[in-house]
Amino acid sequence: KKYNVAVVGATGAVGREMLKILEERDFPFDNLKLLASERSEGKKLTCKGEEYVVEATTPESFEGVDIALFSAGGGVSKKFAPEAAKRGAVVVDNSSAWRMDPEAPLVVPEVNPEDIFKHKGIIANPNCSTIQMVAALKPIYDKVGIDRIVVSTYQAVSGTGKAAIDELRDQAKAILASEKAESNVYPYQIAFNVLPHIDIFFDDGYTKEEMKMVNETQKIMGDDSIKVTATAARVPVVYGHAEAVNIETKEKLTVSEAKELLDNAPGVRVVDKPEELAYPMQIDAESTDDVLVGRIREDNTIEKGLNLWIVANNLRKGAALNTIQIAERLIEG
Ligand code: A2P
Repeated sequence: KKYNVAVVGATGAVGREMLKILEERDFPFDNLKLLASERSEGKKLTCKGEEYVVEATTPESFEGVDIALFSAGGGVSKKFAPEAAKRGAVVVDNSSAWRMDPEAPLVVPEVNPEDIFKHKGIIANPNCSTIQMVAALKPIYDKVGIDRIVVSTYQAVSGTGKAAIDELRDQAKAILASEKAESNVYPYQIAFNVLPHIDIFFDDGYTKEEMKMVNETQKIMGDDSIKVTATAARVPVVYGHAEAVNIETKEKLTVSEAKELLDNAPGVRVVDKPEELAYPMQIDAESTDDVLVGRIREDNTIEKGLNLWIVANNLRKGAALNTIQIAERLIEG
């Protein structure tokens, strides 16, 4: 069977990655509809060797669509995902709009694939930083339980979108030419700098990005008792998010046991040979679909604790790939 697929936000950083992945994985579509804002109407993009003309998104765009992959921001998803669902499409949404909606499953296929089939028309794709963290921690959680997670992120600018990639490159060029760096996307210079600020601030001092990691981890794992505390930072890297993760487990897990578990986990690859200076780096994540885990060490300050360094491509496993993997599971039934 083949499906009518729509990509909403096809011209964006994640949307373009979706087109590549639909092609690479030979996703079984009959018709492909590329949707974006009115600004992109008439633009041409290719997928599986065919050229497609981008259309503006309207409620009627979703007539006859079986699967709608959304990545055009929360506002667009809030407005159009219900329109698509109403017309019989199943939406897989990469924005934060539906993630915490009790009716919408929040899915990482390696972690909670069974939740996919509880959907009522909209399935949510988690936040990029959450996806790579839970993909790596699930095997440990299943084996020994996890009480508490302390995570600090080092997130690439591509997570913000195409405009942010351009801003980093433009600022770097300007600074190296001793010219003034202009900031439009971020409140401060991102080139040669780190911003401890992603998404909006709440009254308690945490950012929305940090709270996504707390709430989404509990929802995906189906366990509200896991304690999660996060600090999210934006670093001047184009592709790939890194995370320093400290976990306190319920039962003791040694470093070698953890390595063996992670070695056998789907979608996860251990890169951890300090003697050869082998550890995960964002530049390696650019060309991989795997979640890379390294620097696995015991936390000697507690009885049952581990430290890990987790890296993945935020546009692929963190966004487009996970979205399409959800769609693949959905059609497998
Ligand atoms: P457009 O290119 O027409 O602005 P990014 O995350 O890289 O900034 O990409 C955002 C994506 O969301 C783009 O494809 C963008 O299309 C799309 N988008 C933005 N606003 C709308 C809208 N109102 N309706 C549909 N798509 C939108």
